[in-house]
Amino acid sequence: MRYRAKLCIFPVHFCEPYVSPGKLVIAIDGPAASGKSTTARLVAEALGYVHVDTGAMYRAVTLKVLGAGTDPSDGEAIRDLLGETHVELRRDGTLTRVLLDGRDVTEEIRSPAVTRAVSAVSRHRAVREAMVREQRRMGSAGGIVLEGRDIGTVVFPDAQVKFFIVAGIESRARRRAKELQDRGISPDMRALVEEIRERDRLDSTREESPLKKADDAIELDTSDLTIEEQVRIVVDRVRQVAEGRA
Ligand code: CDP
Repeated sequence: MRYRAKLCIFPVHFCEPYVSPGKLVIAIDGPAASGKSTTARLVAEALGYVHVDTGAMYRAVTLKVLGAGTDPSDGEAIRDLLGETHVELRRDGTLTRVLLDGRDVTEEIRSPAVTRAVSAVSRHRAVREAMVREQRRMGSAGGIVLEGRDIGTVVFPDAQVKFFIVAGIESRARRRAKELQDRGISPDMRALVEEIRERDRLDSTREESPLKKADDAIELDTSDLTIEEQVRIVVDRVRQVAEGRA
């Protein structure tokens, strides 16, 4: 396959997809509401790659835990529950639908209850092992953009392109507030800031694969960038790597 070196013109959504330069693995990590998901989805679209939102997988498991009435801190009970849990990401045009045991839970996994419990569930080794195994399977053929907390450090430490996306707490809270408003929920800004801070704290301090920048990841602060700018930066980097200029 030939790689198209042509630059795309904004907006990125209307760019002709690049023909994949090869089948690279692109790791996009970062804290809550930093802009990972939107960036990862649009980068995948621009490159004709598959997009995997690993946070959605942890959220689906959390929904299962809550639905079963299991205590999010009970690692053993959760490990048993995993044996009867099936999480699937299914492509639907440019969207990805999340199926839990065959049921579409794409919207439900974004509920405040899931958001509050997800870090507690994700810290268990059994949960991480199951999710990482599945993510490696999905990424084994390359041509994929995975976003999460531990992609560049644990899941694909050899990924050819790694970004660590950050943004100031105010920008992140504003973005999350807008997402919630778009879904008809009116958020309390102060509570939102607290929730994001607490989730960052739990994700960064846990023992198993904590949220942390890989040594060879590029840190990108998106506080003052537009979506188009941040997508362009990642896509340009992929092009450099693909052309052997990096
Ligand atoms: O989109 P948002 O920033 O709210 O978070 P997310 O990407 O949906 O991830 C939800 C939660 O899943 C995180 O707060 C982590 O606790 C967990 N997670 C993880 O442990 N490892 C990953 N690779 C992705 C998410």
